[in-house]
Amino acid sequence: MTVPFLQVSGLNKNFGGLQALRDCSFAIEKGRITCLVGPNGAGKTTVFNAITGFLRPESGSVQFQGRSLDRLPPRAIVRSGIARSFQNLRLYADMTVLENVTSALPGQFGEQPLSAIFRPFRTARAMRQANEQAAGILEHVGLGDQARVWTRNLSYGEQKLLCIARLLATGADLLLLDEPTSGLSGEALDRVMALLRRLQAEGKSQLVVEHNTRVVMAIADEVVFLHGGHVLAQGSPAEITADPALAEIYFGGAL
Ligand SMILES: Nc1ncnc2c1ncn2[C@@H]1O[C@H](COP(=O)(O)OP(=O)(O)OP(=O)(O)O)[C@@H](O)[C@H]1O
Ligand SMILES: [Mg+2]
Repeated sequence: MTVPFLQVSGLNKNFGGLQALRDCSFAIEKGRITCLVGPNGAGKTTVFNAITGFLRPESGSVQFQGRSLDRLPPRAIVRSGIARSFQNLRLYADMTVLENVTSALPGQFGEQPLSAIFRPFRTARAMRQANEQAAGILEHVGLGDQARVWTRNLSYGEQKLLCIARLLATGADLLLLDEPTSGLSGEALDRVMALLRRLQAEGKSQLVVEHNTRVVMAIADEVVFLHGGHVLAQGSPAEITADPALAEIYFGGAL
């Protein structure tokens, strides 16, 4: 039997009596875009937090390429090849766009400050390499012209692209994107969708929390439907969106 790329098995997570994850299990395949959908409060962000080590589930486990991620700290999980974005972006508003990307490159944290004193040329070269690498990533996401701009001056759509650039900087093979298109419409929405498809063509696997059915239909190879912290259904976008019971759960309360 082949090992799934990412396997989430039987996660349970309680917040003071509220069961945010309830025997939550699903698998995703390498190279695909899997959309994680479900009503507000379904537990989608909690799943991301559990996969990436930001919270410890009471039970269950996560395997990535056959290796357990359980008990690994978030930084070790990034090093293993999984990077996640946040619903509220978490960019450094007072840094330039380029600095937001260089700060996400591996090895940028925990660098030896003393090496700047004792090995100034080596440090300068490393900085130049980091800047070049970050500039290439910005070019790739369509922000090449904005490298020197203060991040707070970017449009919201550009900030969303910058979040993805930061994930790419980690070098991760699996990207977990928490609502990468929320708040976007028109051209800004199209840019993010086109980028996600392009990254897939380049081999990046993606798990994407997405509320917009049109986006799900356009980008997803597979859809996981979460409700009350439990996976109710998994299938193709056409199967999931055509299921009247799921539509009732999704829209029933809201509309
Ligand atoms: N740190 C926390 N402490 C207490 N309750 C939490 C915490 N994180 C999440 N919850 C609760 O767990 C449930 C699932 O939350 P989660 O953020 O995972 O939902 P979601 O599917 O991402 O929703 P949305 O679509 O609104 O982003 C919600 O009822 C939420 O209020
Ligand atoms: Mg959420």
